[in-house]
Amino acid sequence: MDNSREPVSDARKLQLLLRFNQLISRRIELKPMIAEAMAQARELVNADRTTLWLMDDEAGQLYTFVGEGLEEEVRIRVGEGVAGTAAREHRVVVVNDAYNSPLFNPEIDRRSGYRTQSLLAVPMESTDGKLIGVFQAINRLDGSDNDADSGFTDEDTELFSSMAAIAAVFLENAVLYDEQQRQFRSFIVTLAQSVDTKDQTTSNHTKLVTGISVAIAQELGLSRRTVERIRIAAVLHDYGKIGIPDNVLQKPGSLNEEERDLMRSHVLKTILLLRRINFSRELRDIPRIAGMHHEKLDGSGYPFGLRGDEIPLEGRILAVADIFQALTQTRPYKQGMAVPEALAELRIMTQDHTDRYDKVSGMHVDPLVVDALARILQREHDDLRVFEEASKWEPMLQGRII
Ligand SMILES: [Fe+2]
Ligand SMILES: [Fe+2]
Repeated sequence: MDNSREPVSDARKLQLLLRFNQLISRRIELKPMIAEAMAQARELVNADRTTLWLMDDEAGQLYTFVGEGLEEEVRIRVGEGVAGTAAREHRVVVVNDAYNSPLFNPEIDRRSGYRTQSLLAVPMESTDGKLIGVFQAINRLDGSDNDADSGFTDEDTELFSSMAAIAAVFLENAVLYDEQQRQFRSFIVTLAQSVDTKDQTTSNHTKLVTGISVAIAQELGLSRRTVERIRIAAVLHDYGKIGIPDNVLQKPGSLNEEERDLMRSHVLKTILLLRRINFSRELRDIPRIAGMHHEKLDGSGYPFGLRGDEIPLEGRILAVADIFQALTQTRPYKQGMAVPEALAELRIMTQDHTDRYDKVSGMHVDPLVVDALARILQREHDDLRVFEEASKWEPMLQGRII
């Protein structure tokens, strides 16, 4: 072990503490940010390693969220070892001669080939006193006389405890945010499922349109946030069908004019229903995007007859996914088209064309979006199962950040 570190000056301590606070309150991906903050904490108390344990309430265990020097996640029972004791008793535990302490569990050392001498474990609690995890420093390095086993001091405990308190507030918010996200997503999925259940003839349509839209968005290299926005808009795109009478929604064959108008009104219904949901700032555009899946680039679509650039990329993606899914889907009254045939049909819609009813039309769909879909299908040898993974509800519900 390298014990040759200089003691940390007071000015440096203050600097590290401020930096820790700054890092932990920055809104970036959680794990790397926590890892960086932990490196600051390590320097502050002159430790060799730090570990951040989080509480898994269901299992009654602590698991290493970030463990410096650990390759894999480690789990311990609450009450087991030094961190487990800090967790069970909600108190700071300092052990400066690990192998002679009854609290120390040498199992992790045995697995990682490390030699623990001193440990400082501080419980992290939420504002209402619930245990969130344990923040732990391992092996105090004493730079002044190269003596590794002088152990953690009261000052270290104090400093480390204030960092644990900052981390606790932050992690509590992150856990809360995570729970809210999952709650919101399960709500969205329930809405979408209610549509697919109502419209038996097109069951799974919503799910597959979601899978196709997400795959195209990813193929186009859009940001993670944009992909998520598209996913949710796709999940909800036909939600307005909930307000269409079953005899129209499930009518086999063609609709008369009145029925067609009623059917088309599902888009406005979608927009109006979704506008009632209090979406977060990032998702505020969802009702608008979801309401664009029947718009066409030449302005002949509905409900607004938007043209060209008036339809953003998100809406164009949904439109292509919706058409492609409808073309390839087998329904009680029609056999679904084969993939090459459906793609050819979409290609025709990327330019001025005469449709199958001899109607002369302009460009309906975005050729770049169709190209992206074609690339995916080519790679997958026209196997539509590629869209199933992206269309599963479960990953949406498991999208945990912690
Ligand atoms: Fe629709
Ligand atoms: Fe649709």
